[in-house]
Amino acid sequence: MRGIKKWGALLCVTALSVTCLAGCGSSESKRIIRIGHNQSTAHPSHIGMMAFQEYIHEELGDKYVVEIYPSELLGSQADMVQLTQTGAIDFCIASNSLLETFSKNYSIFNLPYLFGSAEAYHAAMDDPAVVDPIFDATKAAGFTSVTWLDAGTRNFYTIDKPIESPADLKGLKIRVQQSPTNVAMMELLGGKATPMSFGDVYTGLQTGIIDGAENNELALRDNGHGDVCKHYSYDMHQMIPDLLIGNNAFLEGLPADERAIFEEGFKILNQAQREAWVLGVEDSIKNAVEKQGVNFYYPDTKPFQDAVMPLHESVLADLPAIQGTYDLIQEYNAQFAAAE
Ligand code: GCU
Repeated sequence: MRGIKKWGALLCVTALSVTCLAGCGSSESKRIIRIGHNQSTAHPSHIGMMAFQEYIHEELGDKYVVEIYPSELLGSQADMVQLTQTGAIDFCIASNSLLETFSKNYSIFNLPYLFGSAEAYHAAMDDPAVVDPIFDATKAAGFTSVTWLDAGTRNFYTIDKPIESPADLKGLKIRVQQSPTNVAMMELLGGKATPMSFGDVYTGLQTGIIDGAENNELALRDNGHGDVCKHYSYDMHQMIPDLLIGNNAFLEGLPADERAIFEEGFKILNQAQREAWVLGVEDSIKNAVEKQGVNFYYPDTKPFQDAVMPLHESVLADLPAIQGTYDLIQEYNAQFAAAE
């Protein structure tokens, strides 16, 4: 039912945008670029997308109209990845987690405790030698990742009691993203992994289908998770980037001069999103403390790390092709070690 509603919304929006283009006196030959994401309009990724939209309109406004569809209007993230794959839409923002089912290479960025610090994470993600072998791996599947977006650090949050050690997760149903690595991580930590799409988490928490979830601080504010979960524990288990993915046929069909403008637009998106991210996290924590009554906890992360490190070995054994990328990330970890 939900899917049908969303498709209905897509068809209506499509009809409206075509009508408006024809009826508003704009050139009918303008190509509409549709971009979907699953965050609210207050979220840093939406703010970044608007900077991208503004830039493309400034530079190529005579040819393209960029339309941004937030809040799962075009379906869940998994739906939007498929729409991008087939070219029904041109771009969407997808969590790296979901992409490992399209190319296993993406599993690397889903590994818990892969990055030793936020600085190491940012420097590695900014390095084409690290990301290109991963971002290009879905070309055969019909899409490419064109830039990364910050999605902070993922931590556990729960309704009834704080998670202060892996033992506290025992028997709890915790929502995870729909990815084999995330399910395996949760199992190693002793909780019951409950994969579901992001848009279903609030209802899942409210109805008690799940006992908790794991995400960055923005989910407390933008998705109302802090209204239900009052315990947020900084176990810092993952830094999973979000990625803007683009349909290959669209990207490869762009003339070289336009492609260069789009590439610049992707950089502008990345910068604007990351700047807005810092402010978004600050504001979400303030909101969680002052308005939602969320308590923050700082458990020793070592027992969590010890429980999940076997995943590094098993993923690397399965994927020798990503060993070089993994080693490069270790160099960034050594260069940007976390403060003790
Ligand atoms: C973060 C991330 C989203 C993702 C979500 C999730 O909010 O930015 O891309 O969909 O987590 O847990 O599913």
